[in-house]
Amino acid sequence: MKKLFLFASLFATIGLSAQNSITLLADKGKDSISRHIYGHFAEHLGHCIYGGLYVGENNTKIPNKDGVRLDIIDALKKLKVPVLRWPGGCFADTYHWRDGVGPKDKRPSMLNIWWGNVKEDNSFGSNEFLNMCELLGAEPYLSGNVGSGTPQELSDWVKYTTHPNGSSPMTDLREQFGRKTPWQVKFWGLGNEAWGCGGNMKAEWYANVYRQFATFMTNWNNSDRLYRIASGASDDDYHWTEVLMKELPASMYDALALHHYSVIDWGNKGPSTNYTEQQYFITMQRALLMEELVTKHSAIMDKYDPQKKKALIVDEWGGWYDVEPGTNGAFLFQQNTMRDAMIAGANLNIFNNHCDRVKMANLAQIINVLQAVILTKEEKMILTPTYHVMEMYNVHQDALMLPLTVNSANYILGKDTLKAVNASASKDRMGVTHISLVNIDPNKQHEVIINVNGASYKSVSGRILKSDKMQNFNSFENPNKIVPVPYTDAKLAGNKLTVKLPATSVVVLELK
Ligand code: AHR
Repeated sequence: MKKLFLFASLFATIGLSAQNSITLLADKGKDSISRHIYGHFAEHLGHCIYGGLYVGENNTKIPNKDGVRLDIIDALKKLKVPVLRWPGGCFADTYHWRDGVGPKDKRPSMLNIWWGNVKEDNSFGSNEFLNMCELLGAEPYLSGNVGSGTPQELSDWVKYTTHPNGSSPMTDLREQFGRKTPWQVKFWGLGNEAWGCGGNMKAEWYANVYRQFATFMTNWNNSDRLYRIASGASDDDYHWTEVLMKELPASMYDALALHHYSVIDWGNKGPSTNYTEQQYFITMQRALLMEELVTKHSAIMDKYDPQKKKALIVDEWGGWYDVEPGTNGAFLFQQNTMRDAMIAGANLNIFNNHCDRVKMANLAQIINVLQAVILTKEEKMILTPTYHVMEMYNVHQDALMLPLTVNSANYILGKDTLKAVNASASKDRMGVTHISLVNIDPNKQHEVIINVNGASYKSVSGRILKSDKMQNFNSFENPNKIVPVPYTDAKLAGNKLTVKLPATSVVVLELK
């Protein structure tokens, strides 16, 4: 007992956390990390599309191509955005795609009932979105209207966007509206949050509706090779996943979605910047819950699909707080601090580690809404800490996931604890290994010993994202307060790597 106390006080005196260790199984990689895990989501909501991605063809102040901001495209290209989900969200189940094609002065307006009842003039529609994806080099993921649309409407959208010229009145329409060849659209969502804004359906009812829509959205045997994604569960609604797995014929779907936001309390979300440590702790609890959610939904899927042919797609995730003071409450505009970097780093580590089942994830949302990677104010633009995490982590895209086990010390607040350190690792096509590490503890640096099994490395380098206060953020006045810098606190000795992770930091190591 006395000895134990002596060790504990010795560690405390020299500031070490001896409990942090990672074992990396560098020769046991089996599954690759789909690049689509690094996907994004753009909804007709607030200033995500209008005044965000799209400033209009007649804008002479902000350089654009067909109305799409070029500085944003440039920044997103550096992020290597692999896939972009559109047009919602809740908006998707009110959206009628025919209203958004053809000459703009002939497009009817609609009311955006979910997001502030603003007038939607439909000037950004299918052609604009799909052309923008081509410009960006990202695959589109179209979210179909099941809640208030018809099977005919969705099946026509498939034809309009993807079928060969001359094959139907829909493809004639496409040609008439200026697009000579089909776009490549593989990913199709059949409704969004069917349990809520997508129609308030019960799982059993939605399963039937899904079957009906899926039957007509392509030819009957899906020789179009569309990748069909069923609207999935909210958080821990395991019944939803169970019913869909039981009721959807395997030939009619490829994936189930899952939505989980890191929100403290839907009635009292707290501020995005000046939050307390208590609020930070709860946000982290919610973020780390993703591990349990993915594990349990996957376990249900395993019962029906042990070979993991069907994917789990987390097509909405991220932090959700009160809007910035003085902004429209329905526009969901929030700032982005090191707390968001922690959510991003931890959730991406979870998705990487579950890449045998999680084949796509879409951060909510890409510009000016919720946990955005970019915020704009007229012609100004800033990259958020979340942007930097996603950029640092993009080395994992399509790389071979290397399993690891993390033995972490606790981050303690009062009587509550969370694991301070989380991580994931992969080996890319050039044979370079990357390890991404997050220390969510805002009060303490954590030292981590990484024991490497099955490989030997000659060199280690890396980058780190940190700030002296977790509430810090990039502002329009100080856009580069938080940027990644070279990391020099890793020591390699044989197969043992020692790293020091400062409080609330994200580190990505490169091992050769
Ligand atoms: O991302 C904002 C909203 O959150 C989406 O429209 C909806 O799907 C979810 O509830």
